[in-house]
Amino acid sequence: MADNGVNKGRRRFLVGATTVVGAVGAVGVAVPFVASWQPSARARAAGAPVSADISKLEPGQQMTVEWRGKPVWIVHRTAEMIERTQGIDPSRLSDPESTVPQQPAYVSGQLRSLRPEIGVLVGICTHLGCSPTFRPEPGAADLGGDSWPGGYFCPCHGSRFDLAGRVFANVPAPINLEVPPYRFDSDEIVVIGEDEEAA
Ligand code: FES
Repeated sequence: MADNGVNKGRRRFLVGATTVVGAVGAVGVAVPFVASWQPSARARAAGAPVSADISKLEPGQQMTVEWRGKPVWIVHRTAEMIERTQGIDPSRLSDPESTVPQQPAYVSGQLRSLRPEIGVLVGICTHLGCSPTFRPEPGAADLGGDSWPGGYFCPCHGSRFDLAGRVFANVPAPINLEVPPYRFDSDEIVVIGEDEEAA
């Protein structure tokens, strides 16, 4: 019986020792994992939101800011630009109502923006990644004359997008330009890379 008591005690010790070793082992594994998982300051900066001052962005003009290594366009659309964009025959566009999730839910629809006059788009063609050119002039002869409402033209393979980044039908690009998450910090400051809900 005494032996049994000793054995039981020894068994308890062994179980306890195993548990401690197991716990130490787990910590030893967990520390380097956490260290390698933590993003570096540089990586955090690269993924951080970017603020853009649009106070000097005149109607009809566009500016470009860099966010996560990508060009992001901010276009100040005039009332005429908005009207022309909304007036495009939907059959000319691949996804006129922006049903493919190429934008946050809060900018769905035709203009794909929080404010009708301010468009925010990732300036990378959804075909093979070239950067389209800003061609806001309606009726441009090299883009189809009267049928061109103003928008973006990708010189690599000829894809066309309207001023809301909606892709025209029958071009190589399959989907609309991406709209990044963004919000307005004030009337003149746009924060790219942060949702409205996060404000
Ligand atoms: S990359 Fe723009 S059309 Fe091919």
